[in-house]
Amino acid sequence: MSENSPHTFKPPDAHKVSIFKELDSTNQEALRRAPEFDGTPHWIVAHEQTRGRGREGRNWVSEIGNLYTSFLFRPQCPLLTANHLSFVTGIALHETVSTILKSSDIADPILLKWPNDVLIGRRKIAGILIESFLSGRTNDPVIVIGIGINVAHHPELTDREATHLGAYVTEVDSPYVFNILSRMLAQRIEQWDNGRRFELIRQHWSERAHPPGERLSVQVGNTRFEGVFKNLDEDGALKIKLDTGELKRVTVGDVFFSRPSDDL
Ligand code: BTN
Repeated sequence: MSENSPHTFKPPDAHKVSIFKELDSTNQEALRRAPEFDGTPHWIVAHEQTRGRGREGRNWVSEIGNLYTSFLFRPQCPLLTANHLSFVTGIALHETVSTILKSSDIADPILLKWPNDVLIGRRKIAGILIESFLSGRTNDPVIVIGIGINVAHHPELTDREATHLGAYVTEVDSPYVFNILSRMLAQRIEQWDNGRRFELIRQHWSERAHPPGERLSVQVGNTRFEGVFKNLDEDGALKIKLDTGELKRVTVGDVFFSRPSDDL
C-alpha cells in the first residue's frame, strides 16, 4: 500500500479528479458535466452516494468505506463501438482486484461475469455502469464509466451474494484501490485503441471469465432461459447454446450461474 500513497486519490498525470464527500451519484455528476466537457479525462469520486445507480434500474448501496467513481472521457469512436468499454473496464477491474489480493491466500478464483460483474468465487465484489452523452458538437460520444468496488464492506442482497476486499486483506482503502484502478483502466483503454484492437480485449476478457461450457441462466426482462456458454461474439454479445440446440446471441440481460457452487 505504501507505494500508492494511502488516503490520497491520485489518478494518472494526464487525468483530472474531483472528490466529493457526498453526491447523489458519481455517474449523475459526470453526466451533468458532460455538455461542457473539455476533453481532459476526468474522474469523479464520492465517499458516499445517496442515489447510487446499478444496472437494469437497480439501486447501488453506497455507504462510506467503498469506492464510488465515474470516469468521464471522449473516445474517438461511434457509440456502438463504445459498448466495448464494458469489457475493457472489466479487465482493468479484474487486474486491480488481483493486484490487491495477490498477497492474500485466497483460494477462490477472481472471475468476470458477462457483461459487467467482477466476482470472487461467486460473490460480487465490483460492478460497472456505463452511460453516454451525445453532444451534437462532435460525432464522438462522451462516455461515463461508473465503477463501484466493495472495499470495506458489502451489502446483504437478496438476489445475489457479495463480498469485499477487506475480507481478504487488511491494508486496503478506497484511495489505494482508486490509484491502481485508474492506471489499469488508462492502460487498457489505450490498448483497446478506440475499438481497433477489440479482438485483443475480447481474448483478455475471455481468459478471465467463466469458461466455455459453463451452464448459465439468462434473464432478459420477464423472460428466463438456460443454456451453455459458448463464447463472446465479435461485438461482445454473449453466445449460448440452449437445451433445444438453438444458438442464441444475448446483447442485454442478467446472467446467473446454473450449477451449484460445489461444482465449480
Ligand atoms: C451494477 O449494477 O453492477 C453496476 C453498479 C455501478 C455502481 C457505480 S458506483 C459509482 C457509479 N455511480 C453510480 O451511481 N453507479 C456507479
